[in-house]
Amino acid sequence: MSTRTEGAAATARAAAAAGGGGRLRLGVLASGRGSNLQAILEAIAAGRLPAEVAAVLSDKADAKALERARQAGVAAEFVDPQAHAGREAFDRALAERLNAHAVQLVVLAGYMRILGPAFLDAFPGRIVHIHPSLLPAFPGLHAQRQALEYGVKVAGCTVHFVDEGLDSGPIILQAAVPVLEDDDEDSLAARILEQEHRLYPEAIRLIAEGRVEVQGRRVYIK
Ligand code: GAR
Repeated sequence: MSTRTEGAAATARAAAAAGGGGRLRLGVLASGRGSNLQAILEAIAAGRLPAEVAAVLSDKADAKALERARQAGVAAEFVDPQAHAGREAFDRALAERLNAHAVQLVVLAGYMRILGPAFLDAFPGRIVHIHPSLLPAFPGLHAQRQALEYGVKVAGCTVHFVDEGLDSGPIILQAAVPVLEDDDEDSLAARILEQEHRLYPEAIRLIAEGRVEVQGRRVYIK
């Protein structure tokens, strides 16, 4: 087991140690619309997710996600990539802000920047990501377009732990949707997004309840 996957298990143990009523502190990174953030906030408000969003950070000053956070009374911060000398300095600044909010689990929700080793090492095994494809198919940008161009009949979304590769870490949960003959990128993305909004809060809940165990590439739900 690598240091990073041990970290995932440690996060789960820490959450479990916090007890059934413990609330895992989430730090959400988002670059845009923030509908996954909204789904997480709503799951928490509805009592379906024993967690709290401690802070939302964005690399875009005008990200709708920041507005959604403020509306929910959550700390929302723009961290300006231009104000830092390169990716490593920016990654360190992000990690510093998340630590200032005592974040236990980093949740990437439409965050469109690659995170380097300086960030990964600050949160070993404690970063999750949602991607709009059934990984390992179609990693990277425009996953829904890639699926349509390839001609697959089933698409979907994946929640996974983040490792040093591109969309390559251990898979926590997946959901599938059909690809219809008259689909375009927007209609397929919308069908997948509906599943994302269900799947992401569910995966975070499992982690918060200490029920997620990582062994190598495999994630076991207890
Ligand atoms: C979501 O579909 C998410 O899966 C995708 O961006 C969208 C963000 O929407 N992420 C990626 O493609 C990451 N590679 P949101 O801002 O409304 O949550």
